[in-house]
Amino acid sequence: MPFTVAIDGPAAAGKGTISRALAQRFGFSYLDTGLLYRATGRKMLDGAQPVEAARALVPEDLDAPGLRSAEVAEAASQVAAIAEVRDALVAFQRRFARLGEGAVLDGRDIGTVICPEAEVKLFVTAAPETRARRRHAELQDGTSFEDVLADVHRRDARDMGRSDAPLRPADDAVQIDTTDLDIDAAVARAAEILNDALARG
Ligand code: DC
Repeated sequence: MPFTVAIDGPAAAGKGTISRALAQRFGFSYLDTGLLYRATGRKMLDGAQPVEAARALVPEDLDAPGLRSAEVAEAASQVAAIAEVRDALVAFQRRFARLGEGAVLDGRDIGTVICPEAEVKLFVTAAPETRARRRHAELQDGTSFEDVLADVHRRDARDMGRSDAPLRPADDAVQIDTTDLDIDAAVARAAEILNDALARG
């Protein structure tokens, strides 16, 4: 059976950085599930019907340009609140989790809905201001800090408030708060949790 690592948490808490580092260190594959919602949101911005777009998604869509933009992030958060869109994306994610020796998936509902049997579940958080500061430094496109912070709050509210698969930690998730942790310390903590789980078999 493949080993599954589920990493959930709000936007810009450090999930992606931790997930990529773990996948590399342990030789696991990595899926950023936010890209599925971003690709669907992007197609909606191009005029597609979101449920049909989600059903028709192919892996190449995850390489589309512009998926990291703030506009697409907002559209992703909107389509992610549609139950039929989420349903259409479940199989893709579960299939990925079963590939190879091990897989790291990051998102909002991996530990609660997509892979409730995951061997390791992490919930990565950070204070909204810290997350906005990191995202602001990343963007460098003239967007003001206040706008980025408002964006973070808006997406948090929508991701946590939706009725289908809201963002919340699984009961058995280990929380990592990265507000006062640098990348190396956060990755070291996550790797320690993974090593413990692998040692337990
Ligand atoms: O992680 P991200 O910023 O790329 O995610 C974009 C949006 O997709 C986010 O607002 C919430 C949604 N999402 C989700 O609902 N479930 C996931 N597993 C991943 C992302």
